[in-house]
Amino acid sequence: MNAITLLTDDHDKVKKLLADGEKTDASSPDKRRSIFEEIKREMTVHEQIEEQIFYKELREHPKAKDLVLEGIEEHNVVDTIMGELELTEPTDEYWGAKFKVMRENIEHHIKDEEGEMFPTARKVFDSDELNELGKRMGEMKQEAMASLQA
Ligand SMILES: [Fe+2]
Ligand SMILES: [Fe+2]
Repeated sequence: MNAITLLTDDHDKVKKLLADGEKTDASSPDKRRSIFEEIKREMTVHEQIEEQIFYKELREHPKAKDLVLEGIEEHNVVDTIMGELELTEPTDEYWGAKFKVMRENIEHHIKDEEGEMFPTARKVFDSDELNELGKRMGEMKQEAMASLQA
């Protein structure tokens, strides 16, 4: 599978979970917890395959390097917010606010990737390279998901 298709499919899945989570309220803590856990699992694995495979190859191209460094910093910010939300009870009055800020940050990051980084990647990689990167990321994703479920 093409690397950009794989990553964009992940983005679409997370955006849907984020929209679902924002519709919840403190009267459904279990639902909040399960949606958050799924977002965290998806984002953790997604960041891992991006940083270890896609970003790693892309940053070798001078035109793309700054976009990659910015992407890594945005991952760090998202990880920090997810870490806080994990420690917040779903019935806490701050849960909704933290979730919303997490959503804004993830959606901003997705816009940067899809709007700037992926178009740059399409210029510097040919379609064989994109397919090869997609294959490696797909394999790493399967392994990482399996180990998180174990
Ligand atoms: Fe991404
Ligand atoms: Fe990313």
